[in-house]
Amino acid sequence: MEVIGTTADPLAFVRRSAKYRVLVPTMGALHQGHATLLRMARDAAGGAGEVWVSIFVNPLQFGPGADYERYPRAQNADEELCRGAGVDILFRPHVAEMYHDDRSIVVEENSLSRTLCGRSRPGHFAGVCTVVTKLFHLLAPNAAVFGEKDFQQLAIIRRLVRDLDFDIEIIAAPTLREPDGLACSSRNIYLTAEEREQATVIRAALSEAAQLAAAGEASTAKLLECTRRRIESAPLARIDYIDLVHCETLQSQTEADANSLLAAAVFFGRTRLIDNLRLA
Ligand code: PAJ
Repeated sequence: MEVIGTTADPLAFVRRSAKYRVLVPTMGALHQGHATLLRMARDAAGGAGEVWVSIFVNPLQFGPGADYERYPRAQNADEELCRGAGVDILFRPHVAEMYHDDRSIVVEENSLSRTLCGRSRPGHFAGVCTVVTKLFHLLAPNAAVFGEKDFQQLAIIRRLVRDLDFDIEIIAAPTLREPDGLACSSRNIYLTAEEREQATVIRAALSEAAQLAAAGEASTAKLLECTRRRIESAPLARIDYIDLVHCETLQSQTEADANSLLAAAVFFGRTRLIDNLRLA
C-alpha cells in the first residue's frame, strides 16, 4: 500500500496508472462500517483494479461549534485497517494543501440538501460536495463507494455526478450495525456507557414504525408519532429531526408508500447520531 500525503502526487499517479480505480472517500477513524465499503470497493475493482481510500477530515463540512477539532483522528489504526483490507493507495492530504486561504469556489446542491440533515446543518452538504468534487478531480476514480447510513449524502453525490457529468459509477453500501442494532459510526466513541446503551433506541424506533407501516399504517403523522414516542422513551435522547421522505427527492411525504424512507437524527449529550430505514 502506498501512502500519499500531498495533492501534487496523485495527479502524477493518476496519469501513470491506467488501472480501474475504485475510491472510498472517508474522514478516517475507520470502523467496520468503513471496512464494508472497502470490501465492496475491492470486489468492484477486481483482481486487476485498484482500491484508493482518502482520509481527510474536511473542515468545510463542520459548522461553527461542531466537532471538527475533537473529531477522532486515528492515523496508525486507520493505516493498518487499510493495509489489511488490501487498499492500494491511501490518500491523506493536509488541510492547507486542499484549501487555498483565498479559495472562492463552493459546490452547492440546492434541492436535496434542503431537508433532513441539510436543514439542521446549514452549509454541511456544500462542504461535502466541494470536497468530493476535489477528490474526484484529484484521484479520477472510475467508481466510488458511499454508505447508505448517510442516505442524504449518497443521494446528493449521485446528483452531483449527474449534474456535473462526472464519469464515475456510484456504488451504495448497506449500513453496518453493531450487534444491538446501533449503526457503526466514528462518533459512537463519544458516547458515555449510559448514552451508548440508550442509543439503540434509534434503530428500535425506526423498526417499530416500519412494522406498523408493513401492517398497513400509511399515515405519516402516525408513523412519526410512533417513532417519536419510542425515541423519547430513552431519557438521554434529544430528537433533532424525524421525517418520512421520498427516497429519491428526499421531500416529506404525507402518506407512506413503497418509496418511503424514515430518517432520524438524535442527540445523546453533544453527540448527534443519524440513521434511516426504507419502508418496503
Ligand atoms: P465518513 O463519515 O468517514 O464516512 C465515509 C463513508 O463511510 C460514507 O460513505 C459513509 O456513509 C460510510 N459509512 C459510515 N458509517 C457506515 C456504516 N455504519 N455502514 C456503512 N457505511 C458507513 O461521510 C463522510 O465520511 C464524509 O462526508 C465524506 C464523504 C468523506 C466527505 O468528507
